[in-house]
Amino acid sequence: MAIQWFPGHMNKAKKAVAERVKDIDVVIEMLDARLPASSANPMIAQLTRGKPALKILNKQDLADPQRTRQWIDYYKGKSHTQAIGLDAGERSPAKKLIDACLDLVPNRGSVDRPLRVLICGIPNVGKSTLINSMTGRRVAKAGNEPGVTKGEQRIILADGFWLFDTPGMLWPKIIVEQGGYNLAASGAVGRNAMDEEEVALELLAYLGQHYAKELATRYGLKEDVETLRDEELLEAIGRRRGAMLGGGRVNMQKAAEIVLTDFRAGAIGRITLETPDEWRVWEEESKAR
Ligand code: G4P
Repeated sequence: MAIQWFPGHMNKAKKAVAERVKDIDVVIEMLDARLPASSANPMIAQLTRGKPALKILNKQDLADPQRTRQWIDYYKGKSHTQAIGLDAGERSPAKKLIDACLDLVPNRGSVDRPLRVLICGIPNVGKSTLINSMTGRRVAKAGNEPGVTKGEQRIILADGFWLFDTPGMLWPKIIVEQGGYNLAASGAVGRNAMDEEEVALELLAYLGQHYAKELATRYGLKEDVETLRDEELLEAIGRRRGAMLGGGRVNMQKAAEIVLTDFRAGAIGRITLETPDEWRVWEEESKAR
């Protein structure tokens, strides 16, 4: 797929993680609960091998709750790994995070033996929003474009709990093709780096199979959604939404924008684009290629 990645930007982040990880007790990786595997950065796993890990499935307000539970169980089944769901509406995120880390490393967390935690995640996963809400001040940028956190920060979240934030960008790595599409659908990829129509068609192909009822309700589709091809779905949605060109033709680009904007805002429903089983199959397929 036509997504432009900028691996050069990763070097700074990679160095910072490699350096910091030496005296870290727990590595927190923030994932997008709608696409946990696609939003993971395999480099983090490599650099932090052997360290206790906490996976935060963030933006769970947008994700399918049943599937979030599946993913949490999946991660908890791995050694030295904890997992929690989270979203910006959480009232005491710091407590949730501290409790999960202490569960992994119970012998730390006092003033003389602080628990040292590194937090990482790909851009747009909600890291700045979480840090800002835990510290009550704007220590990291939260904005429209995938964020940049300049310079490492140590945040004392509680007595005996130090949180280190990585500087630089950790871009996701596309291991499986579907992962690239899922990242693009989620908004983690800048608009200029992808073909919106292609991404919307892939998204609709998946939603048509797994979230047909939600699609039909959102767009008032009378057709049997499961039987429609992705182009037919996009066209039907464009028609319903009045995204038309002259001559009765549907403006597919406009229709794609509508679908992507709705998906990102959670307007179609609470949706998760991958399950642990699906991800396993996609990985095997991509290895076989
Ligand atoms: P980053 O530091 O990891 O790059 O991400 P950041 O916190 O900047 O968040 C990226 C976008 O995701 C922001 O939206 C933010 O509001 C949104 N976000 C963060 N956490 C959650 C969450 O738990 N649930 C939902 N639904 N959204 C979340 P934005 O549209 O880019 O900016 P803005 O409109 O909030 O200013």
